[in-house]
Amino acid sequence: MNVQIAPSILSADFASLGDQVRAIERGGADLVHVDVMDGHFVPNITIGIPVVQALKRVATAPLDVHLMISDPDRYIDAFAQAGAAMLSVHVEALPHLHRTVQAIKALGVKAGVALNPSTPVEAIGEVAGDVDFVLVMSVNPGFGGQSFIARSTSKVADVRALLDRAGNRKAPIEIDGGIDQDTASLVVAAGARILVAGSAIFRGGDPERATRELKATAARALPAAAPASQ
Ligand code: DX5
Ligand code: ZN
Repeated sequence: MNVQIAPSILSADFASLGDQVRAIERGGADLVHVDVMDGHFVPNITIGIPVVQALKRVATAPLDVHLMISDPDRYIDAFAQAGAAMLSVHVEALPHLHRTVQAIKALGVKAGVALNPSTPVEAIGEVAGDVDFVLVMSVNPGFGGQSFIARSTSKVADVRALLDRAGNRKAPIEIDGGIDQDTASLVVAAGARILVAGSAIFRGGDPERATRELKATAARALPAAAPASQ
């Protein structure tokens, strides 16, 4: 499994989103990460369905939509229609997580479950065989530019073990929050295969170059392929 880079447009210049998306795609972005916040599940309010529709018109990379909202079941259809290729929902917001995961998959969208830093890995034990990916939050969701929570590295390894035990070896782990040139290697070594990065990509003023450099760092941290057995 390669490492995919998913720049978070939360830190982009919203006045020129199209240009920013083209820049990260030139830099090799594999996904475009879109942070949807409702001011209820998290303290911040960001963007919604019309912006996802607009991004869909300009992006060639798949849209990875991270729903940080209460009652996400109400909006899954709308985000799928708007162009999401991947939808992640927070386990903390959902009493019927199994049903939600199945509903997302039924729309032809990849279903991810997201875990806040304080949420134990066991919270997704019963759906580990069903999900298309797991999103480990390495900051408390709500804002870009926060510091990486160091414990998240071992959490990634624990989620990997859980998915493998469930027979879901192909489901990648996405990590989101405080990912930069320093933390990328740690999380890839622990098993993360989709890296979300907002401020590390956009705050330096050259998102194309930052995407390319983060991707190279992440690729270098991949464990060497095991030699073929004789
Ligand atoms: C935080 C969001 C992240 C955010 C990451 O709640 O889910 O996707 O954009 O930003 P950085 O990379 O700056 O931590
Ligand atoms: Zn996110």
